Amino acid sequence: MQGQSQAAGGEEADSEVSARKKMFTEVQAEGLEQAQKTVLISYPTGISKRSILQYLSRHGNINSHFFYEGHGPHAMVEFSERESIYSLQDVAQIACCSSVPGIPLKSRLFTLTPRQSLSQALDETSVHNYQHPTIPVEDLVQKLCCADSISNQMYSLLNEYQLTEENIKLRFLACSLIQDIARAYFPECVVKPFGSSVNSFGKLGCDLDMFLDLDEIGRSSTPKKTGAFQVEYHIKRMPSLRTATQKILSVIGDCIANFSPGCTHVQKILDARCPLMRFFHQPTGFQCDLTANNRVALRSSELLYVYGNLDSRVRALVFTIRCWARTHGITSSTSGPWITNFSLTMMILFFLQNRKPPILPTLAELKNLADAEDEHVIRGHDCTFVSNPNKINQTENTETVDVLLNEFFEYFGNFDFSSKSINIREGKEHNKPEPSPLYIQNPFEQARNISANVNQNQLDRFVALTRECAWLLQQDSTGKHQLA
Ligand code: GTP
Ligand code: MG
Repeated sequence: MQGQSQAAGGEEADSEVSARKKMFTEVQAEGLEQAQKTVLISYPTGISKRSILQYLSRHGNINSHFFYEGHGPHAMVEFSERESIYSLQDVAQIACCSSVPGIPLKSRLFTLTPRQSLSQALDETSVHNYQHPTIPVEDLVQKLCCADSISNQMYSLLNEYQLTEENIKLRFLACSLIQDIARAYFPECVVKPFGSSVNSFGKLGCDLDMFLDLDEIGRSSTPKKTGAFQVEYHIKRMPSLRTATQKILSVIGDCIANFSPGCTHVQKILDARCPLMRFFHQPTGFQCDLTANNRVALRSSELLYVYGNLDSRVRALVFTIRCWARTHGITSSTSGPWITNFSLTMMILFFLQNRKPPILPTLAELKNLADAEDEHVIRGHDCTFVSNPNKINQTENTETVDVLLNEFFEYFGNFDFSSKSINIREGKEHNKPEPSPLYIQNPFEQARNISANVNQNQLDRFVALTRECAWLLQQDSTGKHQLA
């Protein structure tokens, strides 16, 4: 699992990076596999945590667990085998069969009722607790003030705000629970997390982007393309991929709204450029966006994951600049003419490609390192790049993150946004192909500008703030208090 315990200093952080270069697909496969063997238990306060674990272990070996306070006290319990879940389901009552009217569904969410007597007086020392959301701002400022350099402040910020191992497990579990629902329609579909939950740039509290992957259905049907028959249900014709996506999301959305326990505030946002279903998953506390036919975004997440795992400075810089942008209202949680975190991250990667010597390779260089298994062409878009971070050479650039922060502000404070576009494929500025105020070429869908939503006013605010910050950092050579 990426980035769980980032060290406070650059050197320690570097050694950690070299030890954890898992491939994105491995992280995905491992996370999804574990999530399939996991249950979520809501229990009344006052019940001994150890007794809950003891009770559950009657159904099989427990691989990992943690307790957290979400919408009431919860336990996340991962068994070694899926059979343990069936065994637990067999002895559980179904809520609607007792007093409350409802639709019977055997989910992996369990509620421990107060009348189920479990022992109250057991030793709680070895249970694993997890503080659910995020650090209060005052505590964070306090911590930052204790750091003796801006670089250490930046690593501290990363440490406090990055997703924890438990938080990532919960994200995979939420996907897996939605997959249970989606499989009522599409028995072999897979629901995968993408975006900042898995691209190594996720901050505690970020939304959970889910991708309903239906391609696994075609992949698992063997033998392929040799029989005389086509399975008709599988290829029901639609006027366009967009219409198919809207229809699929619409039925899954109805399923989520009507049958999925704990999903509230379900909204169909099917007319968006990328159609989606938005809902709140109460047991895990995540705001979720479910999309389908969005494989390019999954591959973008993999690309960001590769960049984030190449050098420890990348994530420290991205977290700091994302926090800075949010604090100053450059980015926002609502959609509008603002720069998004995704666009901002592209700008940071581009800046790092343009250091001398470069800290990050261009996408074209990553493509040159690709093997046959890295080749991906998605709906005509070339999404090929080396997926294994271990195959990419380390940079010789030794600039510290505080220097990079200052240089980032300088660089974009003086960038010629009026005529130039940003493009991480070449790592070079190009003349803008059209007059949007900010033009950041989509790395894969190359004719698209990912920041087409940004208006001149928002870009001007960004530039003014970068200039001001570059000036502030240059005023104070220690700079210690400026970030806090
Ligand atoms: P957060 O703000 O932390 O949620 O960052 P995020 O990276 O998860 O961004 P967001 O939830 O807005 O989008 C999820 C993913 O969709 C991103 O990581 C990208 O892979 C993709 N994405 C977002 N915006 C765009 C866009 O404008 N164009 C394209 N092609 N993909 C986008
Ligand atoms: Mg997101």
